[in-house]
Amino acid sequence: MRRILVTGAAGQLGSELIPALRERYGSDNVVAAMHRSPLTEEVADSGPFTQVDATEQDSVERAIRDYDIDSLYHLGSLLSVAAEANRPLAHRVNIIGLLNVLEAACDTGLERVVIPSSIAAFGIDTPHDSTPNETLQRPTSLYGISKVFGELMGNYFFERVGLDVRGVRLPGVVSWKVEPGGGTTDYAVDAFYGAIREGRYTCYLRPGTYLPMMYVPDAIKALIEVAEADVDGLKHHADYNVNSMSFEPTELAEAIRRRMPGFEMDYDVDPLRQYIADSWPNSLDDSVARQEWDWRPDYGLEAMVDDMYENLSRKLLG
Ligand code: SER
Repeated sequence: MRRILVTGAAGQLGSELIPALRERYGSDNVVAAMHRSPLTEEVADSGPFTQVDATEQDSVERAIRDYDIDSLYHLGSLLSVAAEANRPLAHRVNIIGLLNVLEAACDTGLERVVIPSSIAAFGIDTPHDSTPNETLQRPTSLYGISKVFGELMGNYFFERVGLDVRGVRLPGVVSWKVEPGGGTTDYAVDAFYGAIREGRYTCYLRPGTYLPMMYVPDAIKALIEVAEADVDGLKHHADYNVNSMSFEPTELAEAIRRRMPGFEMDYDVDPLRQYIADSWPNSLDDSVARQEWDWRPDYGLEAMVDDMYENLSRKLLG
């Protein structure tokens, strides 16, 4: 990995992955590719960027050739709720966009492609506690179906086409630089905004809805480490469970209340997001990632809440 292109550069993950990659590989060697959304100042000011429409294979290939790219992180995707709201766009971005990236990678001879999967790749019939790496995957959300498609395609391209594709199944990601948009796990970020701005938050998931969650530094670490792992040690490719914490809304509220005693969370359940959350695991068994590339998370709930609260307070209140 010498020259890296990152699609979805304006998003929640891209905005944090790009600075980390620039630090590691040199600012000029990491190209931020966004479509319509604006980049953060941090990303726009620290290195090259370009516009890429992943729904057009030519657009992906042009960026790869123009910047002499050898590796690509494909983060551009519609999250679960956004995908249900616009099926045709979700097909184009999450399915066609993914195929275009894989074919463009083959045509241009890329060394490696990293495509994150998600807890959404599991379904209601999957065991919910400590969900194993290998288990029944029958998602009922469009986003989840596209993630299983990405995992299977990634493994197919590795085995049958000779393209090195890798990926991790990310939990809901909690972060403070850029808000997630259109996801089911967003409440865990929104609650901090509510707490700091108004001292309260109305949660759209029911108390007791456990979901696997991860603080963004761990998500970035997982994406970089899986990309850099020695291929000889990998028996899996685009489908590694990675776990760090699991909580439900009242536990998050209590953890926030320990830093902000007056914080209040009430509930107004959104049926779509509750349906999606109920079909996802409560927690993941990530022993395969631990064995094959030595995965270890750094943050649990308390450390995440401390860091999140401090950074978001500084961002919102100055
Ligand atoms: N964060 C995503 C969502 O909620 C799950 O990967 O849609």
